[in-house]
Amino acid sequence: MSDEIIYLDNHATTRCDPRVVDAMLPLLLESYGNPHSTTHAAGHDAAEAVDAALHSLAQNLGATREELTVTSGATESTNLALLGHCLNPRNRKRHIVTAATEHPAVLDPIDALRREGFGVTTLEVDANGQIDATKFTESLTDDTAIVSLMLANNEIGSLHPLAELIEIAHARGIPVHTDATQAVGRIPIDVGRLEVDLLSCSAHKFYGPKGIGLLYVRRQGRLTRLKPRTFGGGQQRRLRPGTMNPAAIVGMATALQLCSDEMPTEPQRIAALRQRLMEGLCQRIAGLQLNGPPLDSEIRLPGNLNLMFPGVQGDALMLAAPRLAVSSGSACSSVDAAASHVLLGTGRSELQARSSLRFGIGRFNTAAQIDEAIAMLADAFDQMQQFS
Ligand SMILES: Cc1ncc(COP(=O)(O)O)c(C=O)c1O
Repeated sequence: MSDEIIYLDNHATTRCDPRVVDAMLPLLLESYGNPHSTTHAAGHDAAEAVDAALHSLAQNLGATREELTVTSGATESTNLALLGHCLNPRNRKRHIVTAATEHPAVLDPIDALRREGFGVTTLEVDANGQIDATKFTESLTDDTAIVSLMLANNEIGSLHPLAELIEIAHARGIPVHTDATQAVGRIPIDVGRLEVDLLSCSAHKFYGPKGIGLLYVRRQGRLTRLKPRTFGGGQQRRLRPGTMNPAAIVGMATALQLCSDEMPTEPQRIAALRQRLMEGLCQRIAGLQLNGPPLDSEIRLPGNLNLMFPGVQGDALMLAAPRLAVSSGSACSSVDAAASHVLLGTGRSELQARSSLRFGIGRFNTAAQIDEAIAMLADAFDQMQQFS
């Protein structure tokens, strides 16, 4: 057995693909000009690379280049989308609709808006992490400024039927923001067809570099006007000023292109690895329970698995299998030790939530790694049973 870490935490982040790193290096070592320098070729080269990357990103998302704003990642994008829309003096509405299982990158800016006097409806979810379409419709009022619903959940992989929900919101002239951080690169997305108004994502979730992401703002039939949150140079239509990072932008574009290229086959390969993991663990550990939607359903991300281990704490199990990288909640919430709000939201008890582990299978995982992960976890589980 090697000392290699078996990395099954691809919802927290992914390994940057070496092809992405190769595409980034020339922007760091050769075409290193400031893309906003207009007086020399070094600046032009960098600007050209940024422009080509943005065109490629737009094409792969079904957007136009003008609809994309580069940010430092999904957290900045969600903040810009929600605060930028709601706190724009043009917006006179004071109510927000969201769901209980959203990521803190959405829930926290909404909390900040609540403190500014906004009313918030937080929709409950069922055991599959789904909201009820009727309750959603009933939650919308004449005063609803915006809806924010994630495309894919980061813990249980649930996919919201976003197109249907957007249609309902649009019928009342209400814009929809989606946190698509876990969906971009993993499932096909065409923002133009989806008709979503605002979309946030981070490159490091799809094998790109960290610290870079996008905010998509729909122009056609525009329902949102964002007020900038930062002020400085005139870059990015003044919505998000500051010198752009050409290497990271090229890395993000290359990463998304690779995901698009592999989309016809990769989700099935990853789903097969997940099935292998599930079956292998069930053979060795009695009483395992699945959290979230069934694995063969259309409403779950292909690489996501979330399991409840009978009678043990997830954290203790991870300690007993130190070469296995998985998690007991989102990477952000592992900063504080609260039980997963997503699992609690789906009806699990605190004890059940604390007995659960999240697995995220990704591009660099192999069947051999899955088998090793099964052995590690089952051995750790047996060991803990003996002690208890
Ligand atoms: C669903 C979701 N939204 C937002 C974020 C925040 O992403 P970042 O930390 O890259 O800003 C994450 C990261 O875990 C996520 O999973």
